[in-house]
Amino acid sequence: EQARQIQQTMAEFRLSKTQLLEVKKRMRVEIERGLKKDTHKEATVKMLPTFVRSTPDGTENGDFLALDLGGTNFRVLLVKIRSGKRRSVEMHNKIYAIPIEVMQGTGEELFDHIVHCISDFLDYMGMKSARLPLGFTFSFPCLQTSLDAGILVTWTKGFKATDCEGEDVVELLREAIKRKEEFELDVVAIVNDTVGTMMTCAYEEPTCEVGLIAGTGSNACYMEEMKNIEIVEGNEGRMCVNMEWGAFGDNGCLDDIRTKYDQAVDENSLNEGKQRYEKMCSGMYLGEIVRQILIDLTKRGFLFRGQISETLKTRGIFETKFLSQIESDRLALLQVRSILQQLGLDSTCDDSIIVKEVCGTVSRRAAQICGAGMAAVVDKIRENRGLDHLDITVGVDGTLYKLHPHFSRIFLQTVKELAPKCDVNFLLSEDGSGKGAALITAVGCRQRELGA
Ligand code: BG6
Ligand code: GLC
Repeated sequence: EQARQIQQTMAEFRLSKTQLLEVKKRMRVEIERGLKKDTHKEATVKMLPTFVRSTPDGTENGDFLALDLGGTNFRVLLVKIRSGKRRSVEMHNKIYAIPIEVMQGTGEELFDHIVHCISDFLDYMGMKSARLPLGFTFSFPCLQTSLDAGILVTWTKGFKATDCEGEDVVELLREAIKRKEEFELDVVAIVNDTVGTMMTCAYEEPTCEVGLIAGTGSNACYMEEMKNIEIVEGNEGRMCVNMEWGAFGDNGCLDDIRTKYDQAVDENSLNEGKQRYEKMCSGMYLGEIVRQILIDLTKRGFLFRGQISETLKTRGIFETKFLSQIESDRLALLQVRSILQQLGLDSTCDDSIIVKEVCGTVSRRAAQICGAGMAAVVDKIRENRGLDHLDITVGVDGTLYKLHPHFSRIFLQTVKELAPKCDVNFLLSEDGSGKGAALITAVGCRQRELGA
């Protein structure tokens, strides 16, 4: 009886192919809403223009600084790009911590901290006086009116600094650089991490015209036809669109597949009601879904001898790396128990079996709905081009995709099943978004010179 009740709970997370096709179809509807002039204002999937009009062609050249803010690590980078026959990219970078108090303090503190890190990096590289062009990877939704202007629509993930939403983030950075009075920099481009990843991968593989992040957050971008992006003037060629698909479902269109555990995760988050799809499929939240299920199963007496420990009440205990370990097939159950022990959870052998199954069920659904979203994107591109069959490459980054033992496999399988007319090649980004941001900055600098 207990086993049956546990299975019943798990069943809410198991989606049929019909349901997944429905998710794909709904994503397509939201894509159209985001692109159209009449509907984009209230659209949940924002389809933000990026002013990136082409992927790299190898003529990019110069030395650039890049910032990479919004994923697991905050980095400052120096990227040296050389064009021509022996084109190359050389990178130096340093990782800096962003304390929670800074992520959730005032905007001024956050940007002062960022500039402080740049200052340290320039000292470290011995380049304080160089006045380099800078590309800013900023992994949040920004309403762009040009390559170097982006108004923060809303914070997502773990950030909540005051006085930033509704502001141009490039200006906030420029002002902080001025306040510091130590060095000058030329901020040329603001870049979403999906776009940076697409560009990083496209530098090696020209068929790469889509970017995917399955990490702390979840999002995608792709090269859309200019004529379909109604809010940007011009009909020629293509522009990369930052979908911000994490907000898919914020109008209630996924409510039939959301469980009470998903709702609890949402209610416990910094941004209730927002990023509902992201909260079902990205690294920052999967562990939270697992935790909500475990709390419920414990309350019902099926786990941990019915005792809810302080640990289980702690937000964020199940990070992606722990889920990945728990789900690894190479791990014996005894080792699963020792991981739970490390987290402060005393488990029996039966407990560890249940915990592992809960993790597996939650991450499978995540990979499947993420795959359904991607299937909608590649089919849209195929239709844009009037093709019966599309070959395309997607550049991918993110800790969930890279670290989790099953996510990527189930994701790929799902895309294949739900978009049978597309042959999708997934290319893992090795160098992060900073490299892509530098490539975009190189193009931006060239455009400025031509314009001046
Ligand atoms: C990295 C990018 O490679 O991938 C980051 O450089 C990005 O900017 C990240 O946010 C996504 O992964 P995660 O898992 O760190 O959020
Ligand atoms: C969040 C952000 C988005 C970013 C994604 C992956 O969804 O809103 O801009 O691309 O996380 O980091």
